[in-house]
Parts: sequence; structure tokens; C-alpha cells
Amino acid sequence: MRLLTSLAVAASLLCAPAFSALAAPPDAAPPDGAQASPASVAERDAFIDRLIARMTLEEKIGQLRLISIGSDMPQPQLRKELEAGRVGGTFNSVTPAENRPLQEAAVKSRLGIPIFFAYDIVHGHRTIFPISLGVASTWDMGAVERVARVSALEATADGIDMTFAPMVDISRDPRWGRTSEGFGEDPFLVSQSARAMVRGFQGASPANRDSLMAVVKHFALYGAVEGGRDYNTVDMSPMRMFQDYLPPYKAAIDAGAGGVMIALNSINGEPATSNKWLLRDLLRKQWGFKGLTVSDHGAIDELLRHGVAKDGREAAKLAIEAGADMSMHDSLYLQQLPGLVKSGAVPVGVVDEAVREVLGAKYDLGLFADPYRRIGRAADDPADVEADSRLHREDARDVARRSLVLLENRNQTLPLKKGGTIAVVGPLADAPIDIMGSWSAAGKGKHSVTLLQGMRDALGDRGRVLHAHGANLTDDPRVVEYLNFLNWDMKELVQDPRPLGDMIAEAVAAARAADVVVVAVGESRGMSHEASSRTTLSLPGSQQTLLKALKSTGKPMVVVLMNGRPLTLNWEKENADAMLETWYAGTEGGHAIADVLFGDYNPSGRLPISFPRSIGQIPTYYNQLRIGRPFTPGKPANYTSQYFEEASGPLYPFGYGLSYTQYAVSDVRLSRDTMRAGERIEASVTVKNTGARDGEVVLQLYLQDVAASVVRPVKELKDFRKIPLKAGESRVVSFPIDEDKLKFYNAKLDYVAEPGEFNVQIGLDAENVKQKTFVLR
Ligand code: NOJ
Repeated sequence: MRLLTSLAVAASLLCAPAFSALAAPPDAAPPDGAQASPASVAERDAFIDRLIARMTLEEKIGQLRLISIGSDMPQPQLRKELEAGRVGGTFNSVTPAENRPLQEAAVKSRLGIPIFFAYDIVHGHRTIFPISLGVASTWDMGAVERVARVSALEATADGIDMTFAPMVDISRDPRWGRTSEGFGEDPFLVSQSARAMVRGFQGASPANRDSLMAVVKHFALYGAVEGGRDYNTVDMSPMRMFQDYLPPYKAAIDAGAGGVMIALNSINGEPATSNKWLLRDLLRKQWGFKGLTVSDHGAIDELLRHGVAKDGREAAKLAIEAGADMSMHDSLYLQQLPGLVKSGAVPVGVVDEAVREVLGAKYDLGLFADPYRRIGRAADDPADVEADSRLHREDARDVARRSLVLLENRNQTLPLKKGGTIAVVGPLADAPIDIMGSWSAAGKGKHSVTLLQGMRDALGDRGRVLHAHGANLTDDPRVVEYLNFLNWDMKELVQDPRPLGDMIAEAVAAARAADVVVVAVGESRGMSHEASSRTTLSLPGSQQTLLKALKSTGKPMVVVLMNGRPLTLNWEKENADAMLETWYAGTEGGHAIADVLFGDYNPSGRLPISFPRSIGQIPTYYNQLRIGRPFTPGKPANYTSQYFEEASGPLYPFGYGLSYTQYAVSDVRLSRDTMRAGERIEASVTVKNTGARDGEVVLQLYLQDVAASVVRPVKELKDFRKIPLKAGESRVVSFPIDEDKLKFYNAKLDYVAEPGEFNVQIGLDAENVKQKTFVLR
């Protein structure tokens, strides 16, 4: 990314004297959002060259340090470090008033180089949108982009320049707690989401006042940690890497992401942080990435624990040489780089390259033109940064309702009537913190609309809502202790001290007095979090006991799930009259869920990840490689690949989701049944809304390469469309198929399409498809 900032802007207004001495030539300023011309790129590079030429080694190393506000050092010390030019950027401060004095200190330094302010804005800043897994469930890239755009508007209004997002790690092992932060298991859907997020965060240019620079993470393959155990190793064949796991990072970079965060894991024996192949050969040379790389928190120190560095000196040397430009939560770059450079062990040119990227990011963010570009003037600071008027509730409600996935609906239990008595029970029915999910940035529980509140608002005085807690999220003291340690600042689980039996009796009484029970169960947000890997994916025992007791009342039971990963839900699938997957739906979650439960919105979300039947069945991702003895439904299981104690295949497949209407998909039509290299054919179906309600259908295109030079997946998602259809309406939907959609990485890692037969499948989920064949000649 090479973008020129508006250089003529208010540097004069607020800059300290040292800074104005630095200012770049004002005549080069294009309007906000303009793309850089070759001349402007040259000007940018010349500006950075001139600056580097004036920097001492200490100042250069200072630029490589990314400091965590509130945890790395006390504020007075931080200001001293800033004034000494020993900090490149900070993260974790969330208001203009917090950021302004830090920037003032930075521009007081000898060269007046501004710092940038970063933060983990993953699914909203003050308004919290659904977690990324929920956002992906919309299968609506406009909605995905809106999440990032609104996040950027709110975060930049709080003086923030950069976000450590999107998180695009493919996750196929739901034991991994960070599954919640990504967009699911599929390379195509995650790549599309990655692009949309970068577009939304950065807008037309990261230089714009309301744009955030996107730092895509975690490069690379973090989602494939062994056994789903966070921070663990990754061992993966190059073919799988290139085919499945790397495309989303590449998509974000191609969309212009200004930064890349390096993963904490090792890859085939080499930590990502010290991995020259990853950071130099692949990222920079092969992919042409021209932005900033940042290590993850403390990752350079961790090279010692990975056992690839014998001491801090070696760790710093390995990381800088590999291409880790900035050191997050730094200690080793500050301590070790001066000696390494002075002794000649690390050429100063290597440090200069990293500094160039840090300065380049600041230039592209417009910070040299105006260090207060997003912080603004003190006089304009909001009187109350947490004011409700600063939120984007309508956007949040709209995206949230699109993200909800209807898993079951027996006897048209849903939508509910707006009337009568509804019992709203369960440990997550009134959980304002949990509904935000993990990484909820500057989101506040006081702003969350819980399910209980949403149901009350929707029902108004047309009916009655009875509420009971029903059970604690878990009764396991070990789990409670862990979760409260994890979120020490906001006690995660406040346990109801009553015995489970008493809570259940209260819930059962509410159910008996009601026409229908809506029960919110799942995980606390800390259970689907960094460092929260699980050995079971079932609901905790206390919640299972509650569900069984409610079921025994004979009242229709609507299960509302709140969780950040696929769960094993066999009993729930059989026994719930209706079941809605809501993930963690965010600030407006309660309203959005009520919209769906009462039918004010017809659910249109689809699963971005397969749900297993049991933990032993993992992995269950749909696009597995073909094998010699596949299990075939309806055929004897003998000597085929399956687990003999339970049914094969996922409990809910990738792409699955119900609606309050029904859709019929015709057979697949092909514009031609042969295709020559360079040509394109069209595959189409007619889809009809055969039910009585308007809705939105997600049509999914999968391809299967019938025979290739290497083993290929059973099928792969290659395109999708989300289409509104009125009751009774039909539409023809066409998908262009060109050679590019047929390409894959062969044994030599060349990206090729091989002649032969291809099966085209179009349908409503990965299993429910119609098929037709064509030949590539
Ligand atoms: C560690 C996490 O792995 C990463 O995702 C995050 O961006 C950083 N901490 C900063 O908070």
C-alpha cells in the first residue's frame, strides 16, 4: 500500500515546534482518499529517507517498540519514553483525552515523530456487533463491510488510528477458543469476509480521518494449532497451507491492509516470529506486501520458550532478521538491538528497513501531516465518551438479526405470537457482558440489550414476560475460577449462590405459568476466548439439567444459544421445539433476537462452520480431501472411514440454516457442458420461495474436481449469493465459472487448472445440493 496523505492539513494548528521542523512539503497533498501517483510514492519514500538519515540508532529502535497502555509501564514513565523518542506506537487507550497527552509527548521528542494509536477493534468499538463468526453467518458482505466501517467511525472519533483486525485464521477445530474471533472454516467465505473488513476499516484510504489502518492477523495458520490448544504448534503440508489456510491473509493484503500481525505459533518447526520464509520470502517477495509487520504480544521473548533462541540477544536478532518490524510489548528490541547493531551482528540496514515500514504506516495514516488527525482538539472532546448518542444501534440491530441461524423449528413453534405469557429463562437470558462476546473493545455492558430486555421491549403490554435465572452457567468451581482469572477486570461469572435445585424449581414454575419457554443457554464469553480451549463442546452440566427440567413441563421450548464456537447439541436438537444460534449478538443482540423470535425478521443466517456430533468426530469441516474408502450415507459402513458408535457427518453442515419460509432449488443448468482454457460458462438454477413469507435465501456454489494430479477436496465453496425473495417469487440465479475457479495448488505448488471433469453443485448448504457436470478441455 502506498498512499499519500493530506499534507497541508492543520499541522500548524497543534504541532509542537519540533514536529513542524519535520513537516513534509505541503504542495504534494491530494484530497482525502486519493490514490498515490508514482510521483507521490517517490515523495513519500524521499520523505522517509530524509527522516531516517536524521535519526540516531536509539531513535530508530524506539520506532520499533509497540507499547501496551496500562500494562507495560506507568504513565509518567511512558511520557518520558515518548519524549525521548523511544516509542513507535501504543495500543489499548480508547479516548481522545487519553491519547492527546501521549501524542503531545511524542511530538516533543527531538525529531517530533508522532506515534500511532492501535486497539483490538474486532467486531465493533463502542457499539458491539456480533462476533466475527456471527458476522460471517450473515453471508452478506455488505453487512460485513458495515461492521468494519461503523467500527472505524467510532474508533477514529476516539483518536485511534489502527486496529489489530481482521482476524482471518481458518478454524476447523472448535476446541480452539479463538474460533469465535474468525469467520469460520472455509477459505472462500473467510477470504471474502477479510476483503470486506479491510474495505470497511480503511475506507477509500487509511489517511482519511475516519479510516483505521487494518492489521490482518495472525499470520499465519494460527487457527490450526494442534488439538485446538491455544498457542500450540502447527504442522501442515505446503499444499494445505496454500490451498486452504493462506488465502484469507492474502485476500486482506490484496485489499490493501496496511499491516500484518505475526502469529504466536510455530509453523513446521519454525516460530512465525522468527520465520524468514514466512515474513520475507512469502509475504514480501511472493505476495509483494509493502506494509508494516508487528509481532504479537511478547512473541519475541517467547522465542526463548519455543527453544529457538538461547537468550534475548539471539531472540531479537532472529526476529528483526526474519522481518518482525515492530515488537509488541517490547523488551528485547530496546535491550538488545543497540548492542547487536554496534557489534555488527545485525546490519543497521536491517533496522532501517523495519523503521521504514513504521514511518511508512504513519505517513499513510496522515500522521506526519497532522499527528492529531483523529484525536482532534480538546475543545471538541465529547462530554461523555460513553454517551448512548455515540452508538450505532440501528446498524448493530440490523447486522445482528442477519447473523442469527435458525437450527430447528418443529411444528412452526416460531415465530412466537406477540401475546400471552412467555417465560424467559437461563443463565444467558439477562447477561449484558456475555452478549458482547470476547474482544469487545470499548463496549459497555450498560449499553447491551439483553434477551430479556429485547423480549420485554418487543412484547410491550401485549403480553407478560416471566423471568428466572434457572441455573448458573457452570457449577464447576475450576471453570469458574479460571474464567474469573481470565477477565479479572470484569468478574466473568457472578455465581447465584442458591442451590441448582432451587433455581430450577423457580424456572420450572415460570415455564408452567407460561405458554412458551425461551431458554438462553451456552457459554460465558470467556469460554470462547483467547486461551480458552475446551475438552468438551457440550453445554455445562447445570444447563443440561435445566433444559431437561424445562422439557418435562411439556411447554414448547425455544432454545436460544449464545456461544462462540460449534457445540455438540444432540439432545438439544432432538428435544428443542425450536433452536436459534445467536453466537454473541452484541449491543443490540436482545432486540435482534426478539425480532427473529417474533417474526419481525425472517432468519437468513447460515453456518460458516460445521457443527460436530461429538468431540471425537473433530474435524468435521465439509471440504475434506477425498479418500479411498469414504463413508457413503445409505450404504453399509463396512471398511469405510467413519466412527462406528455414531452417525457420520456433521450434526449441522456448513452453510446450513432454516427460514420461516421454504425455498425450492431447480436442477442445475449449464450454459455449455464444455469449457476451453480462458473461457467462462454460466451455471444457473431457479430458486423459488414456496412458503408464505418473504425471506432471503443464500445460494451456494460448490465445485468438485473429478480427477486431478493430486487429491482434491470432496467439494469447495466457490461463490454464493444472498437474495431477497417474496413469498411465491422465483428467480434465476447464475454463477459465472471461469478457469480461475478451477485452479488449485499442485504438487509443485503451481496454481493451475487441469483439464477434465468438474461437478458443479448449487444448493442451500454443503449437503443439500443439485449437481451437473462439465468438462474443461
Ligand atoms: C494478543 C492477541 O493474540 C492478539 O490477537 C491481540 O491483537 C494482541 N494480544 C493485542 O491485544
